[in-house]
Amino acid sequence: MIITLDGPAGAGKSSTARALARRLGWFYMDTGAMYRAATLVALERQVPLDDSAALAALAESLSIVFRDDRVFVGDRDVSGEIRTERITAATRRVADAAPVRDVMKRMQRRLAEGLDVVTEGRDQGSVVFPQAELKVFLTASAEERALRRHREEAARGVATSLEAILDAQNRRDEGDRVREVGAMRAADDAVVVDTGGLTPDEVVERLAQLVEERRA
Ligand code: DC
Repeated sequence: MIITLDGPAGAGKSSTARALARRLGWFYMDTGAMYRAATLVALERQVPLDDSAALAALAESLSIVFRDDRVFVGDRDVSGEIRTERITAATRRVADAAPVRDVMKRMQRRLAEGLDVVTEGRDQGSVVFPQAELKVFLTASAEERALRRHREEAARGVATSLEAILDAQNRRDEGDRVREVGAMRAADDAVVVDTGGLTPDEVVERLAQLVEERRA
């Protein structure tokens, strides 16, 4: 069975997907990490970020694997390195390239083959797994998402204003919406879950219920 979890940054997608997969004992596929890993290698090899054919060829050549909640390129654990601000910024450009998205789509389908999967990203229900048994679109208000990010940054000892976070988030949201390929949107048959006012546990509980309903 395949469960797709899409939605904007800050809606709690990653933590929800990871917790749900753990609870079900299923494979968790973090597709954002795949775009990030390809970007890390592209920067290291100095592939120009506006050369979509070269980026796609590079992505195609990589063996991206998930093991024990970590992401590897070949044997190299890149889980930490892909989370820096530099990679986050560059990944947006790589993820905008249609040929790269095509490569990733095929890689994601291959990784999921024959498995029970919780997959998380922007286009998993709408593009990559249109046949998924359960599609969820997680949202929360812009303020709620910014607040969550603000708390996370504070916990990491980073001092940023809520306004700055909200501003940057609005710009990112707009970019995600208007992108020509892979634009973020809920699949027509997705269940929209607003995580506003819910604790992380409550969100996972709600999704687990949906899974039960679909299986019945
Ligand atoms: O979810 P994240 O922040 O790790 O995603 C990293 C980047 O990749 C972000 O710019 C959105 C993009 N992305 C995408 O375009 N499609 C996906 N399926 C997953 C992520």
